[in-house]
Amino acid sequence: MEPNHLLQFLQSRRSMPLKEVRPDPIDPAQIELMLEAANWAPSHGKTEPWRFTVFMGEGRRALSTAFGEAYRRMTPPEKFDPMGQQVQADRPWQAPAWISLGMVTDGKMPEWEEMSAVAIAAHNMHLMATSLGLACKWTSGAIAIHPHVAEVVGLPPSGRLLGFLYTGLPAAPPPSGSRRPVADKVRWVTA
Ligand SMILES: Cc1cc2nc3c(=O)[nH]c(=O)nc-3n(C[C@H](O)[C@H](O)[C@H](O)COP(=O)(O)O)c2cc1C
Repeated sequence: MEPNHLLQFLQSRRSMPLKEVRPDPIDPAQIELMLEAANWAPSHGKTEPWRFTVFMGEGRRALSTAFGEAYRRMTPPEKFDPMGQQVQADRPWQAPAWISLGMVTDGKMPEWEEMSAVAIAAHNMHLMATSLGLACKWTSGAIAIHPHVAEVVGLPPSGRLLGFLYTGLPAAPPPSGSRRPVADKVRWVTA
């Protein structure tokens, strides 16, 4: 691939707010491609610590219930708001596919390396979604990583949930991206 094309493609990847994703179903074959891309992430010692659960269609009901329940568990009783719980339970229905980002390790490699590998897998997935013209975002708030949600996605107690990628057709053009100059983050040592 021509380097500038690759750079432009990387720059075109955006995180899209949930309200800018259409709820219409998408082809599971597109999710398969995203998962295959994820599986080509590097990992130290070839541990391949990424584990995914895909929620689509009616399968999202389990996620909806889990998000609502996680909200209940993490909210002190005096602050519990049924509307707040409903907001969480509604989220899975707003995008046609939700993919949990899980990590399972045998403890032989440092945890930060295993988490890095899962993050790269997630990024590969996001890049494939971009190439498919899908809107996508990694969401990692307190509910998206809650132990109850981790259990529902099928991770073992020793596993770790790092959030979800949701994806679907875009309902709006992507926002423009921006970065502070890379030169501000780099030192060159040449002699
Ligand atoms: C590990 C990780 C966790 C993230 N979690 C959230 C999140 O919980 N909510 C959110 O709005 N965006 C989340 N994002 C997306 C970032 O907000 C987004 O990448 C950043 O604003 C840059 O925008 P871009 O991805 O369009 O370039 C996360 C990104 C990463 C890498």
